[in-house]
Amino acid sequence: MRGATSLVELPRDGYELWLDYRLVQSAERLEAYRALLQEIAVPGDSPTLAAARAELQRGLAGLLGGPVEISQDRLRGTGLLAGTPQTSPQIAALGWDEQIEAQGPEGYLIRSFEVDGKPAVVIAAGSELGVLYGSFHLLRLLQTQQPLAGLDTAERPKVQLRLLDHWDNLDGSVERGYAGKSIWKWDELPRTLDPRYQDYARACASVGINGAVPNNVNANPVILTGDYLEKVAALADILRPYGIKVYLSANFASPLKPSDTPGRFRRRGGIGNLDTADPFDTDVQRWWKEKADEIYRYIPDFGGLLVKANSEGMSGPFDYGRTHLDGANMLARALAPHGGIVMWRAFVYDPHVDPDRVKRAYKEFVPLDGKFEANVFVQVKNGPLDFQPREPFHPLFGAMPKTPLMMEFQVTQEYLGQGIHLVYLAPMWKEVLDADTFAQGEGSTVAKVVDGSLHDYSMTGIAGVANVGSDRNWCGHHFAQANWYAFGRLAWDHTLSAEQIAEEWIRATFTNDDGVVATIRDMMMGSWEACVNTMMPLGLHHIMREGHHYGPDLEYDAGREDWNPQYFHRADDAGVGYDRSRSGSNSVAQYFPPLCDEFDDLMTCPEEYLLWFHHVPWDYEMRSGRTLWDELAWRYSRGVAAVGRMLETWVELKPSIDSQRYEEVLEKLSTQAVDAAEWPQVCLGYFQKFSRRPIPEGLSGSAKQRDESR
Ligand code: GCU
Repeated sequence: MRGATSLVELPRDGYELWLDYRLVQSAERLEAYRALLQEIAVPGDSPTLAAARAELQRGLAGLLGGPVEISQDRLRGTGLLAGTPQTSPQIAALGWDEQIEAQGPEGYLIRSFEVDGKPAVVIAAGSELGVLYGSFHLLRLLQTQQPLAGLDTAERPKVQLRLLDHWDNLDGSVERGYAGKSIWKWDELPRTLDPRYQDYARACASVGINGAVPNNVNANPVILTGDYLEKVAALADILRPYGIKVYLSANFASPLKPSDTPGRFRRRGGIGNLDTADPFDTDVQRWWKEKADEIYRYIPDFGGLLVKANSEGMSGPFDYGRTHLDGANMLARALAPHGGIVMWRAFVYDPHVDPDRVKRAYKEFVPLDGKFEANVFVQVKNGPLDFQPREPFHPLFGAMPKTPLMMEFQVTQEYLGQGIHLVYLAPMWKEVLDADTFAQGEGSTVAKVVDGSLHDYSMTGIAGVANVGSDRNWCGHHFAQANWYAFGRLAWDHTLSAEQIAEEWIRATFTNDDGVVATIRDMMMGSWEACVNTMMPLGLHHIMREGHHYGPDLEYDAGREDWNPQYFHRADDAGVGYDRSRSGSNSVAQYFPPLCDEFDDLMTCPEEYLLWFHHVPWDYEMRSGRTLWDELAWRYSRGVAAVGRMLETWVELKPSIDSQRYEEVLEKLSTQAVDAAEWPQVCLGYFQKFSRRPIPEGLSGSAKQRDESR
């Protein structure tokens, strides 16, 4: 690794995210860029084109070390031309219409080409939003020091709706948020517009995110009152030029009269004047129709409603003896005339449906396939439980060929170390997206379900629960920014590798020093596995502390059986793990063959899901030759050792990282190292009561253990 550069002396607090347009480090590249990008022409005066122009101007000024001449007219000399055939006669004259059209409504081409006989870089798109996306792409090429000669890129997103779901409450708190308060200042809106809103929009657009749900799925019905719709409309006005549509989380009980006991069990009553929210009631139907009309008067391009119904105390159609179908379709009919959609969440786990919590959503939703209105998505978490450090993919993927399923990932690290642990989530998301459902034979990956190519869905979507807050660096942990970035990049193109995305992010955010990039990339790439090993290895799940979900706990009594850790880990004298094989709860049957057989058989079940699907004897021989008990201990030690190594690596990187970010990450990693060590202590200490075997020596991460785990 090369030593420090002068760059590290520049103060960096993380506010700029990956849009930190610093002077290009390579002298050779800088010279080439300056020679080619002598002027910028982005003809047209729409807000989106103005945003593209402003970003290019800002970006190139920083990257090239001085202002670049910019015009709203034609390209005169050697430089950059960006536009659509409609906004730029020079682009129209290139005759690329067919290729441009092939990239769809959000795609673009970037090519090195001659314009009027002079060398140029051309960003050509079918829409103004495509021009903006192409502009961010070009800036990324410069940030990552790619050559521009011979450039010939064609991009289009693989998934249509790429949304961030904010679990932000109207009082400014954020459910499962670890980066300060909500960025939405409801008490100031609509009059005062925090400049952060625009920077948020820039960051989202730069990675292709095209929708935002600003309020929590545990929705306060007040969001749908006129006062709040006016505030939401003001936000929508800022996000619109960046191609970001606003959606809202809706409380199913909204048509009800306000409650006398608001907040009790999350059932707050509503904002209407009705005594029922029964979807079969014509007054209720009318209420939603009129509400939809009202929303669209405020926000003409409103995206639609996200609904958490009959889940964790939220109201829903079951309160009136109706079904998910009845609820979702009623809302869908109200929104359809305006082009809005419903995202109906499948995060339901009614104990009456099945004793095994992870089987319930599948059992409730599969029979409804094909019966939803055309503008309804069912939104499904990546795994069947709840955003655990590692879960097998949700068996609903592949099982609802006639209903568009929207993937829901959690970008915020609720169960993965929250604002403290450095965990790069792209490898986890890739594991899920690349998993083969076998729904239509081999190769029927989850990604192909989500992008619609497997079942020919009429609409496609992917959502991420945001990790953004009011902290200066947006995400609390500087490295958590990488998860926001990676979510957007993967939603746009799920074929990108986690490594590639990490590398882009590091180059844009920290440095282009190849050695430093490789070191940070490797650290990030190992961080998820380290987290899994530290917390819940071998398929263990839901053994975290109640309520805040940070540290380990295997004993609490949550008052509801399917919340207690014992319900999930089932440790006893014979062994540990939840038997979901055919002789157990038979959740394996919710997967297509051959997966159901593979998961069912102890010998073929992937070890990473072993205790998810099986109750395994303590002295069962693992593939490593160790007993289960020793393997468990080894995995824990490996996790803790890996965290120790991350800390060491970071310390070694000190000369290459600007001081504020270095210190802030160092502090987090130091806390992580201490907190990580608690997991094996608590978990092995507890399991030992049943296994009655000694904990192998050196588990706290001794030199020997560390060497072995390398
Ligand atoms: C988890 C999380 C809750 C959240 C819920 C959901 O259970 O802990 O805070 O409301 O998921 O996804 O609705």
